[in-house]
Amino acid sequence: MNIVVVGAQWGDEGKGKLIDILSKDVDVTVRYQGGSNAGHTVIVGKEHYVFHLLPSAILRTGKVCVIGNGVVVDPKALLEEIDGLKVRGIKVTPKQLKIAVNSHVVMPYHRVLDGLREKMREHRIGTTGRGIGPCYADKVTRCGIRMVDLMNPKVFRSKLQDNLREKNEYFKKVFNQKGFDFDSIYNEYVVYARRLKPYVCDTAIYVNEAIDNNKSVLFEGAQGAFLDIDFGTYPYVTSSNTTVGGVASGSGVAPTKLDKIIAAVKAYTTRVGEGPFPTEFSPKMEEEIRTKGKEFGSTTGRARRCGWFDSVLVRYAAIVGGFDELAIMKLDVLDELKTISLCTSYKYKGKTFKHFPHDYDVFCHAKPVYVEMPGWQKPIGTIRDFRKLPPQARDYVNRMEELVGVPIKYISIGSERDEIIVR
Ligand code: IMO
Ligand code: MG
Repeated sequence: MNIVVVGAQWGDEGKGKLIDILSKDVDVTVRYQGGSNAGHTVIVGKEHYVFHLLPSAILRTGKVCVIGNGVVVDPKALLEEIDGLKVRGIKVTPKQLKIAVNSHVVMPYHRVLDGLREKMREHRIGTTGRGIGPCYADKVTRCGIRMVDLMNPKVFRSKLQDNLREKNEYFKKVFNQKGFDFDSIYNEYVVYARRLKPYVCDTAIYVNEAIDNNKSVLFEGAQGAFLDIDFGTYPYVTSSNTTVGGVASGSGVAPTKLDKIIAAVKAYTTRVGEGPFPTEFSPKMEEEIRTKGKEFGSTTGRARRCGWFDSVLVRYAAIVGGFDELAIMKLDVLDELKTISLCTSYKYKGKTFKHFPHDYDVFCHAKPVYVEMPGWQKPIGTIRDFRKLPPQARDYVNRMEELVGVPIKYISIGSERDEIIVR
């Protein structure tokens, strides 16, 4: 069985926890897009782990983790993550971690450019500053440096020279910066190359062979549907396909081999960074939910914006993503609320929108239409059986299911591994 887990909102839906639970029963876990902009949190007892590039299943010994070709790999960030785990007693071996030979490498100039371009924009995106956009841009403009290039000193040298020749002019003339020194980048990166070499292989072959040998594979999505470069709230998006389509191009595994798509959504909505957000709370309510839900970015520490559950968005994500099952995360965060609102459509200039409007003007100014439901006003964290949830909580979940049109299989009611209801 090959499963995909994606986020259906603006990221941070709780994919890390869901993947950690599901990975118990799979052999291989694959990241296929994004980079160290992701922050996937897994809590095991008193231990709190945040993964940026490593698949969340790295905590499970005996399982293989793959960083696919669609990921942009910052070697510095990756090695820091590997070293950080080592300090905590978890050793990441080349048997356990495979990195795609054709994945693209994040370079120092990508990170710097991310910040400089952001400063120059009138409409800031609020990027994580990890160099993700500039690295994907180089991939598409065909001047990127891949893992395989990094592993070959001669090729690396000439590609880096080529890049700096052009980029340093750009840094000097457009941004009034001094540019990058070839030797210091080269010397820094050949050390990374030496350390990463044992992990690098053709992961498309590796994963397809695993599938042929009846191994089960879990594809771990990063970010969420509305940060997708094609289907998201462009330009306030990330630079990869966060929707299911990204699996095939980002791992080399054909869509015909995917058996099940599970989407994670929060019982409400959050967003980090800039961009429109129709169901965003008023400041007081936002503060309350942010505190209860610990809504601070796990990559940048930024306060997440919070709002009501928006079924217009999730319904669209379900259409584009072909979801088989939904996982509702953090339902317990709503425990104390007297009433809970659910957005069912948008209204703009007298017109009703049932589907996500791509027109920026509409999406920015549309007024959400809500149904209001009574809250359950009691803690639900110890419940493990759906039938034992308070009737108001069941009604809320059933209403979400009806509005999105996808069966809800998992309901998370706490941050611990076992705090989940499986229907
Ligand atoms: P996980 O995997 C939430 C957001 C940034 C910014 C936009 C573009 O933890 O769900 P980028 O650095 O990618 O160019 O930034 O995307 N963003 C995320 N928001 N969760 C994430 O990942 C995100 N990764 C990027 O805040 O608005
Ligand atoms: Mg996150």
